[in-house]
Amino acid sequence: MQQTEVRALAQLLNRHRGRTAVFTGAGISTESGIPDFRSPGTGLWSHIDPMEYLSVDALYARPQTFWRYFDQVFGPTLDAEPNAGHIALATLEQSGYVHTIITQNIDGLHQKAEAQNVLEVHGHLRTVHCRSCGRTYPMQQALEQLPKEPVPRCEQCGKTVRPDVVLFGDMMPHAFSQALQAVERSQLVLVVGSSLTVSPANTLAFQAPHLAIVNRDPTLADRRADVVLYGTAGEALTAVVEELAIGHQ
Ligand code: APR
Repeated sequence: MQQTEVRALAQLLNRHRGRTAVFTGAGISTESGIPDFRSPGTGLWSHIDPMEYLSVDALYARPQTFWRYFDQVFGPTLDAEPNAGHIALATLEQSGYVHTIITQNIDGLHQKAEAQNVLEVHGHLRTVHCRSCGRTYPMQQALEQLPKEPVPRCEQCGKTVRPDVVLFGDMMPHAFSQALQAVERSQLVLVVGSSLTVSPANTLAFQAPHLAIVNRDPTLADRRADVVLYGTAGEALTAVVEELAIGHQ
């Protein structure tokens, strides 16, 4: 682990204590067994076309294929557990360093790690809603209808339901405007586990005067960052929390 960068990140968090927002991507959940999207070879998009399976068009044009893929890929995520990275970020929030955790992830692992102020800018896996009458159901209840039903349907009106995640082609949810307000009132944004390639979510990383990045691989924004820590989120963030705890800033 790069001790110099760990100490530099701890100093930055201490200097901007309480005025820091975190922005996470799929990379923080790979240590919970959930693949990310763009890691060469293992990322989801390295072997399927997201537009083919996770877009609004795909949902409306090929609902059966959409739901079969959705169940296969995201069904297991419902049972995933938070890892050391999620726990370290929740600790930074509980100890007053971080005021908001903004996530592109739909896995709910920040909340499972007891983080309190989480903004899900790409939605979440907890529920689905009926495209016709708007009624909401738990995701588990919808997936249980498969495979005997070709697609999950609303128990109220019988129309097909859709997941409460942001699909390619969807408008951004209210959480995105809340996230924009959160970063605009921050002095530091700490990015963890994101390639920063998807807009408009990635614009959130660049709204504060200071930027820090914890990522396994280089990102598009490394040159703009005050501190870049290359490594796995769990190990890196745990080291930063330990550095802050022992007060070595
Ligand atoms: N620790 C730290 N970084 C990691 C780890 C790890 N254990 N595992 C992977 N990474 C890094 C990878 O190096 C990669 O740069 O996390 C990054 C993940 O990038 P992406 O797969 O592009 O995920 P993300 O940035 O969240 O994608 C944004 O794209 O498809 C859409 O809606 C989807 O929310 C997603 C959005």
